[in-house]
Amino acid sequence: MAGAAAAVTRRAATLLLSSRFRTPASRVASLIPIVGANNRRFLCASSVSARTAEPAEAASQLGETVKDFRKRLRIDEVKGGPDQGLDWVGKDLTVRGWVRTCRVQSSVTFIELNDGSCLSNMQCVMTSDAEGYDQIESGAVTTGSSILIEGTVVPSQGAKQKIELKVTRLVVIGRSDPTTYPIQKKRATREFLRSIAHLRPRTNTFSAVTRVRNALAYATHKFFQENGFVWVSSPIITASDCEGAGEQFYVTTLIQNDTEGNNFNVSKIPTTKDGKIDWSQDFFGKPAFLTVSGQLNGETYACALSDIYTFGPTFRAENSNTSRHLAEFWMIEPELAFADLNDDMACATAYLQYVVKYVLENCKEDMEFFNTWIEKGIINRLNDVVEKSFVQLSYTDAIDLLVKSKKKFEFPVKWGLDLQSEHERYITEQVFGGSPVIIRDYPKEIKAFYMRQNDDEKTVAAMDLLVPRVGELIGGSQREERLDYLEARLEELNLNKESYWWYLDLRRFGSVPHAGFGLGFERLVQFATGIENIRDAIPFPRTPGSADF
Ligand code: 4AD
Ligand code: MG
Repeated sequence: MAGAAAAVTRRAATLLLSSRFRTPASRVASLIPIVGANNRRFLCASSVSARTAEPAEAASQLGETVKDFRKRLRIDEVKGGPDQGLDWVGKDLTVRGWVRTCRVQSSVTFIELNDGSCLSNMQCVMTSDAEGYDQIESGAVTTGSSILIEGTVVPSQGAKQKIELKVTRLVVIGRSDPTTYPIQKKRATREFLRSIAHLRPRTNTFSAVTRVRNALAYATHKFFQENGFVWVSSPIITASDCEGAGEQFYVTTLIQNDTEGNNFNVSKIPTTKDGKIDWSQDFFGKPAFLTVSGQLNGETYACALSDIYTFGPTFRAENSNTSRHLAEFWMIEPELAFADLNDDMACATAYLQYVVKYVLENCKEDMEFFNTWIEKGIINRLNDVVEKSFVQLSYTDAIDLLVKSKKKFEFPVKWGLDLQSEHERYITEQVFGGSPVIIRDYPKEIKAFYMRQNDDEKTVAAMDLLVPRVGELIGGSQREERLDYLEARLEELNLNKESYWWYLDLRRFGSVPHAGFGLGFERLVQFATGIENIRDAIPFPRTPGSADF
């Protein structure tokens, strides 16, 4: 202990000394560790006395200070305001971006420039007297090339935009061979764009989806932070299967190429006497997986900080090649302490309405684009989501409703069977006219072990929030907080009680009713943009047979 304290003292002294020669005292003031009388190290936030540094002198001798962070001008800052850039008329500015199109006419050249900050291009109008016109003549300004343009903002003659840029100087930053650049003006299929996932963010659709995805993530943090939730990072590597569905990817170092990169020889996997894999020799000393959900870890923090949420990647090795499944997707999982299923449903509803409203208010141009090109009427549909109350009904009532519909479904409808996507869509799209619907109190046999058993002993306090087109957007439940019930359920399901010892401890020490849900972030992006396939709602989709880029 004494040695450690001395080392801290020595290190602190070194930091004090070295900082004197590096950075002006005002900058380092908040970082200098001080060792207190009891040898405990703490950080001093007050300014440092003149004794510790002669800033200007030191800086001029040894290197330079780092420049202040200054933002590059984005096209959105110019065109995104209420008068679409008219307030910039007469101003000189510099923009940088990628050329969408370059039309050379006899007296004037039109360049459509996009920097990804918004859907709108900056229309740049160039005449032969501008500096850099030789680049136009030599054919260096082509679709996909990157350029810098200086110019003066002028009112536009065209009907498509209020302003344009009269070019005074053009610099080509990076050329792009027009004969091989894969993104051409004609509309490409989504399938083709997935095969060039590194370039697809340069299209209108993918840049708009990316901005809306970003806004949804921001609004998610904003909602939970404003409501007093604490963000918790749940582990990505785990030894437990939260959902119990066995859809996990292994994380192992038992399979490794040799140092020459030669393919692994299967006979090198260590086995036990009875021919099973010897996990004790693996990195973690036991089987480990990529997490399917952060919930169990989230519960531990909720049972201490009251309300928490996780927001991170989750992984499922389910072989479902559908437009709603990914092998790697992001999940938002709030967990509320001192809460029941009704609180959980209320939280899910308020959250969904908040993030949808945020996107409608803050991504207007992108939402207009989706409304025109991706899903007609999406803005009205989302406005309804924000304004109307959500309906909830029990699983039993939902089954009744499906049976009475007399509709021919592909999958059977019977109490005890899980609802399939066609059933969920029928309920939201046909019965409730496109509104989100929450179905609650499912049979316990089709739900995970941790859900709280209802008094009927047949159902659990589960809820799924269904939305049109996507189907299940949210899955949640009240958790079983009664130790004896939970232990009995683990036994019933033949799950190894010992491996859940820490999860059971939450029920041993100060157990409280608590509830939470998981929302698939890419499904939310689908819902908010109208994009049909989940592979287009994430930058680099991972699906069965495909992990490119
Ligand atoms: O319904 P799920 O399996 O619930 C859980 O994982 C709970 N532990 C959540 C909780 O209570 N904290 O998954 C939650 C949501 C689904 O409703 C769906 O939106 C999404 O995650 N999801 C997927 N999204 C994309 N691809 C997949 N393969 C998905 N599987 C689930
Ligand atoms: Mg579910």
